[in-house]
Amino acid sequence: MKAFVLNELYKYPELQSTTFPTLGDDEVYIKINASSINHRDLWIVKGMYPGIILNTILGSDACGVSGENTFVINPGLFWGDNPHCQSSAFQVLGMPSPGTFAEHIAINQKYLYACPAHLTEIEAAAIPLAGITAYRALFKRALVKKEDKVLISGIGGGVALFAMQFAIAAGCEVIVTSSSDYKIAEAIDLGAHAGYLYTNPDWYKELIHDFGGVDVIIDGACGQGFNNLVKTCNPGARISFYGGSAGKIDGLNPQTIFWKQITIAGSTMGSDQDFAEMIDFISEHQIKPVIDSIFPFDQITEGFKRMESSLQFGKIVFQH
Ligand SMILES: NC(=O)c1ccc[n+]([C@@H]2O[C@H](COP(=O)([O-])OP(=O)(O)OC[C@H]3O[C@@H](n4cnc5c(N)ncnc54)[C@H](OP(=O)(O)O)[C@@H]3O)[C@@H](O)[C@H]2O)c1
Repeated sequence: MKAFVLNELYKYPELQSTTFPTLGDDEVYIKINASSINHRDLWIVKGMYPGIILNTILGSDACGVSGENTFVINPGLFWGDNPHCQSSAFQVLGMPSPGTFAEHIAINQKYLYACPAHLTEIEAAAIPLAGITAYRALFKRALVKKEDKVLISGIGGGVALFAMQFAIAAGCEVIVTSSSDYKIAEAIDLGAHAGYLYTNPDWYKELIHDFGGVDVIIDGACGQGFNNLVKTCNPGARISFYGGSAGKIDGLNPQTIFWKQITIAGSTMGSDQDFAEMIDFISEHQIKPVIDSIFPFDQITEGFKRMESSLQFGKIVFQH
C-alpha cells in the first residue's frame, strides 16, 4: 500500500510503497478515506518531539471504513484506567505505531467510534487529536460551566477552534486572541463575542476594560504571553494549557496566582471515556469542525507547508 513515511528529520514524509499491515489481537483493517494533520506531525519532522523513530508512517487523525461501517479513530492509545492521567504505556497514533497518512491501518477495535451522522468523512477526520485535547482541557481540567467567560488564545489553531466551538455549545461567552485580524473576524462569525491581537502588548488591558476579566482560559502557546493571560483572570479562574508553542514561561508572578486563587492545569489529549463523551457532545450539539483546506492524499506535504505558514484557520484535511 501507499503511505507517507518519515525517512529523514527536517524533510517532509515521502509517499512510498510499504508493506500492508498485519493484524494484531482484536485489530481490524480500516480503509482510510480522510486524515488530517496536527502540529505534532510538524514537530516530529522538525525533530522537536520526544522518541522520534525514522521510517514511521505519520498521521494521528483518520476517518475510514471497515465493512459497511464508517469510523473515527481515537489516536490516544493505552491511556489506561486512571481518568486523571494517562498510563506510562500511553502513545499517540502515528509514532511509534504506524499512522494514518496511509491507505490502510490495522487498529484495535476499541479505538473505533461510529462517525457522527451529521458529518462527512472529511469533517470527521478533522476531529480526533485536536478535538479530544480541547474537550479534556475545557471540561475535565478547566471545569468550564455555562455562562463562564472563556478566553481562548491563538484561535487559528486546530485545538483552539474546537475549544471555542465546544465552549459556545456549552453556553459560555467566548473571547479569543490571535495574531490575525482576519482570524478574529472569522471567530466572531462563528459565535465568539470579541477578539484581541496578542501581538499588541496592551491587548489584555483592552479585554479587562471591555469585559472585566475571564473565568477560564484555554492556551496552547505559553511563553512570555502567558503572563498577560494571567492578568485577565477573575478571582477563582482556571487556566488549562495543552501546548507550549511559544516556549517557557518566564516571570510568572506567584502572588497574583495565589491571591486570586487561580488554578493552572496542564492537559494532554484524553481518556477513552473522554473521547466517547466528546463524540457524543459533537453529535448532540451538531458541531461541524472548521476546515481550512482539503488536499488530495498524494499532496500531504502541501498540508505540512500550510501548517508551517500558520496561515490556516481550522483543520487541514487530506482526502485519500
Ligand atoms: N498536549 C496535547 O495533548 C496536545 C494536543 C494537541 C496539540 N498540542 C500542542 O498545542 C499546540 C497547538 O497545536 P495545534 O495542533 O492546535 O496547532 P496549530 O493548528 O498549528 O495552531 C497553532 C496556533 O497557535 C497560535 N499561536 C502561535 N504562537 C502563539 C502565541 N505566542 N500566543 C498565542 N497563540 C499562538 C497561532 O494562532 P493564530 O494563528 O490565531 O495567531 C497558531 O495558528 C502545539 O504546540 C501542539 O504540539 C498538544
